Amino acid sequence: MKTPITVAYGDGIGPEIMAASLQILMAAGAQLEPETIDIGEAVYLRGHSSGIQPESWESLRRTRVFYKAPISTPQGGGFKSLNVTVRKTLGLYANIRPCRAYAPYVYTHHPKLDIVIIRENEEDLYAGIEHRQSDEVYQCLKLISRPGCEKIVRTAFEYARANNRKKVSCFTKDNIMKMTDGLFHKVFDEIGAEYPDIEKDHWIVDIGMARVATQPQRFDVIVTPNLYGDILSDIAAELTGSVGLAGSANIGEHVAMFEAVHGTAPDIAGQDKANPSGLLMAGVMMLVHLGQHEVASRVHNAWLRTLEEGIHTPDLYREGVSKQLVGTCAFAEAVIARLGQLPQHFAPYTPRPPAKRELIGVDVFLDYEPRQPALLGESLQKAAAGLPLSLSMITNRGVKVFPNGFPETFCTDHWRCRFTGTDGKHPTNQDVIGLLQQVINAGFEVIKTENLYTFDGEAGYSLGQGQ
Ligand code: NAI
Repeated sequence: MKTPITVAYGDGIGPEIMAASLQILMAAGAQLEPETIDIGEAVYLRGHSSGIQPESWESLRRTRVFYKAPISTPQGGGFKSLNVTVRKTLGLYANIRPCRAYAPYVYTHHPKLDIVIIRENEEDLYAGIEHRQSDEVYQCLKLISRPGCEKIVRTAFEYARANNRKKVSCFTKDNIMKMTDGLFHKVFDEIGAEYPDIEKDHWIVDIGMARVATQPQRFDVIVTPNLYGDILSDIAAELTGSVGLAGSANIGEHVAMFEAVHGTAPDIAGQDKANPSGLLMAGVMMLVHLGQHEVASRVHNAWLRTLEEGIHTPDLYREGVSKQLVGTCAFAEAVIARLGQLPQHFAPYTPRPPAKRELIGVDVFLDYEPRQPALLGESLQKAAAGLPLSLSMITNRGVKVFPNGFPETFCTDHWRCRFTGTDGKHPTNQDVIGLLQQVINAGFEVIKTENLYTFDGEAGYSLGQGQ
């Protein structure tokens, strides 16, 4: 089944690199049905001050996936940046930009660079609220919200997990902006505690950015508010060797947009010189987003192979390293000719499909004063009688105390009561709610619950000590 996507060819080099990228994606077997919309310069000049026609929003709302070439915003005349409008209107709160060195095939001072910048995309100084307050003083409001911080920080940790990344670094200036950046840092610490498997650290943004520029190999995933992220992501893309290489994803709850990080490159537009790689890599991220992992791998690996064989567009071409200077169209043909081949120098790209998650039970945490595990166990068994979830154990501070607990074990008033599907059956969320209702009806104080999942059949929770 083909997935409809909205495509915009944009301005400058946009039409050339979009045609080349789509040609490669389709040749690799992408199941896409592109709907083209018109955006950018021509639309601005037709009198739409936001660079997009009202009917184009319909396509975006329908497909929820936007594959976008760069566009130019005419200077002056009250034209609004389409990128900012699209991000804010569609709630694309996260900008994800992987930046990686491709040494020795692409020249860079930092051959080990491999970082992902995750930038908050809607808030901070980009809320666009500015005032002139007096003859001498102007202000720009910096807005940071707790839900905004929570969404972007969680995105960063989930991205790290899904992509087998080891560390997430947070960049803020909370030594000066103690409330706004302080909140971002605080939420990073709070949410980070839920990801014990991932290393984390915090950097004051100025020294953090300086270290990215000089020792990028120290970093893995970086999460940061909007303005710092905007600056940092261009520094990181530039360090890889060419702005023509990086793609980015803008992710929201309902819609996602994929684009190259560079602009319309008017100096080389229409000359078959542009490198389509940035838009192509954004296309690979789009295929992963759409669950077409295998096609994404085919494209990425054929592209790595093309780079390795020294087939380079003018922005990458270097005597002694490159073998063949090609234009946009010939580069696309070279990638297509290598579909199905793996790179020899670089590790092949294999995006990990999300694991299949299944609910198998729930840990119910109780505040319960009588320190008698057997009494608690029997009462809970009675409360859950006849339900699709049954009590399998109770722990106190992680040690199993029911069934068959040791009378010597010291107990506090904090109990973790594990219920799993009766007769090994998978319970539903409704079953969990039903269980909680019964436990509360029996007079217990439920202070917290934690669902128990398996991921591809593997337990996503630890066993109780002594279980
Ligand atoms: P730019 O990224 O278009 O160009 C900077 C330099 O990089 C130029 O020398 C250009 O030739 C080169 N370059 C960029 N992409 C390349 C590619 N794929 N292959 C080979 N060389 C490449 O930045 P600039 O000149 O500041 O902006 C030009 C226009 O692009 C402006 O109108 C700006 O508003 C717009 N722009 C649009 C963006 C978007 O739609 N997402 C993002 C950034 C700029």
